Amino acid sequence: MSELHNRVLAGKDRLVADRRWLHQHAELSWKETETAAYLEQALAEMDGLVLSRPTPTSVMAVLKTGRPGPTVAIRADIDALPINEENELEYRSIHPGAMHACGHDGHAAILLNAVRLVCQDKESLCGELRFIFQHAEETPPGGAVEVIAAGVLEGVDEVYGLHLTSILPTGRFGVCPGVLTSSTDRFDVTVQGKGGHSSMPQECVDPIVTGAQIICGLQTIVARSLAPADAAVLSVCRVRAGEAYNVIPNTFEITGSVRTYDETVRNKIEARIRAIAEGTAAAAGAEAQVTYSRGYDSIVNDPELTKMGRALIADTFGPEAVADLSPIAPGDDFCYYSQKCPGFFVELGAANPAVGSDAPHHNPRYKLDEDALLYGVEYTVALLESRCRL
Ligand code: NI
Repeated sequence: MSELHNRVLAGKDRLVADRRWLHQHAELSWKETETAAYLEQALAEMDGLVLSRPTPTSVMAVLKTGRPGPTVAIRADIDALPINEENELEYRSIHPGAMHACGHDGHAAILLNAVRLVCQDKESLCGELRFIFQHAEETPPGGAVEVIAAGVLEGVDEVYGLHLTSILPTGRFGVCPGVLTSSTDRFDVTVQGKGGHSSMPQECVDPIVTGAQIICGLQTIVARSLAPADAAVLSVCRVRAGEAYNVIPNTFEITGSVRTYDETVRNKIEARIRAIAEGTAAAAGAEAQVTYSRGYDSIVNDPELTKMGRALIADTFGPEAVADLSPIAPGDDFCYYSQKCPGFFVELGAANPAVGSDAPHHNPRYKLDEDALLYGVEYTVALLESRCRL
């Protein structure tokens, strides 16, 4: 076992305690007040960091070694989801309607405890390290754009991020060069018909029948307008219309989501949604209003950094720890960091059925395997210290 491994193990109690405190005090996007205060206080107890608040609920710690070298940034997201926790845990969320069901409590605890170890080694490092505890990842347009606008990436040469995932077992690292995540868009269609008595359809323009045709039309986009190699998902997830059994309503609302991995495909789907909704409505004498809202872009991993990250994981944990991933669907606002400078975002397995940690993310019973946190800390320290080694 390496010396680093033993130091990480020695800090396990602290790591788990940090994670549980954060879990218990889950806070929603832009409301991470107690979370940011906790992190800031813990960072203030470490040696040699310059602390700042890029935004009211984000925290940045900077370690300037004073020796020439690269400027390396790493980001952890810190916000929770609007979910009522259903886990029976002594550290269950005390905030009703807020739960760390995506592992961001783990991300923050991993980075915090990695910083603690890196600070102890600062005499053997060069360059500058920036540790970014970012708010509001869960809610587009997201906190990344705000902290980047506040200047956290100015002068940064490379940037890193990590996400715990229940698609991989504890201790395996999902690595994917190039496009890693899908873009996350939403569409809303309102069909404006003309309501009236159910017994006199000839006096009405029925938006429900037209809306149903639009839904079926939308399902032809992926099947009929894209090439076989173009990956995309279009799902209609909510419809709303009508109040009474004998009243044809005025309007029909359709809401759904679109996931793509390529800008050309993304643009094409948006154009097809508009054409199908407007054209189908016009044919029926109705009108369709389409709003297409762009969520996060895809995260694109820098090929060189991905190669380096892959080798580092294999060196640190053995080659079997590397899992080659195909692009995955959940989006992340880390995309905006990797648009500013070369970046590498890794997925760290935290699923372990033996300890009940295999519920999907965003589920009220999501529970991460705390052993995964140790892998996260060891990876983070090994990574940062290899990039800034004197
Ligand atoms: Ni997440």
